[in-house]
Amino acid sequence: MTALRAEKLTRTFSSSAGDVHACVDIDIEVHPGELVVVRGASGAGKTTLLNLLGVLDRPTSGRVWIGDVEATSLDEEALARLRREQLGFVFQSFGLIPVLSAAENVELPLRIARTAPAERDERVAEALRLVGLADHAAQRPGELSGGQQQRVGIARAIVARPQVLIADEPTGQLDSRTAATVMDLIGELVHTQGIAAVVSTHDPLLVQRADRVIELHDGRITSESTGAAASASDPAADDPSAPVAGPEVSRDGEGAASAFEPAPADPDRPRTRAEARAQRPAP
Ligand SMILES: Nc1ncnc2c1ncn2[C@@H]1O[C@H](COP(=O)(O)OP(=O)(O)OP(=O)(O)O)[C@@H](O)[C@H]1O
Ligand SMILES: [Mg+2]
Repeated sequence: MTALRAEKLTRTFSSSAGDVHACVDIDIEVHPGELVVVRGASGAGKTTLLNLLGVLDRPTSGRVWIGDVEATSLDEEALARLRREQLGFVFQSFGLIPVLSAAENVELPLRIARTAPAERDERVAEALRLVGLADHAAQRPGELSGGQQQRVGIARAIVARPQVLIADEPTGQLDSRTAATVMDLIGELVHTQGIAAVVSTHDPLLVQRADRVIELHDGRITSESTGAAASASDPAADDPSAPVAGPEVSRDGEGAASAFEPAPADPDRPRTRAEARAQRPAP
């Protein structure tokens, strides 16, 4: 079964300098319990792709399915419901509401979905427990560390038990050690809760947590490889001389030029219109 599938996704932006081909003919399939990392230099098209996969943005052409539902064929109302029920989003800037406690932030998607209060309480407690913040439920974001705030963001993303988790540079504002623990948490949740996740990152260390790594270059997938998390369950992974990433399949013969660039610090929140849309209550 495929939790998330995209076929020939293309997104072209028109600008004064001409058309920008931010995503070109992207095919992708993600299964439940699979963590796919999208990697690429700044401007490669990671955010554009994730916004398309989360149906926060509409493709110029191509289609997206969440489970059996073709999301790209839905009207805005049906799409808002699909996002609410089947998709969880995590953002670089956390996107928490400062005046609400951790628990209230996590509860928000359930309020919007009009989940009954008793069930809300139960799910919020479970989500906070899963991210290791059961003892911090009453604290506001300003009273939590960056890593803890992002764990609240992750709890909020999974509280409605989505099929699919989309995370755009979720560790971009964290120091490297905190980033590694947050990525470990995402990997663990994906694997234990059977969520299909697509996570973008610049960080080479975080790629090691992936089941699969997709390399983007100028809006195209240039290579796809098995990540270390997948080979960890493979007996061959016991070989210390084995490479961290598995066999790399070049799609266009160009090979994969790994271009890592530091994530640009961007304190504006929300960062994009799509981010604002994901955070705002559905109509
Ligand atoms: N709304 C928009 N209008 C015009 N061009 C856009 C728009 N959004 C993105 N682009 C362009 O599309 C390309 C891909 O941008 P995108 O934000 O997806 O890259 P990215 O890989 O997420 O980069 P970063 O690592 O810096 O976040 C860039 O050339 C960008 O300028
Ligand atoms: Mg981006």
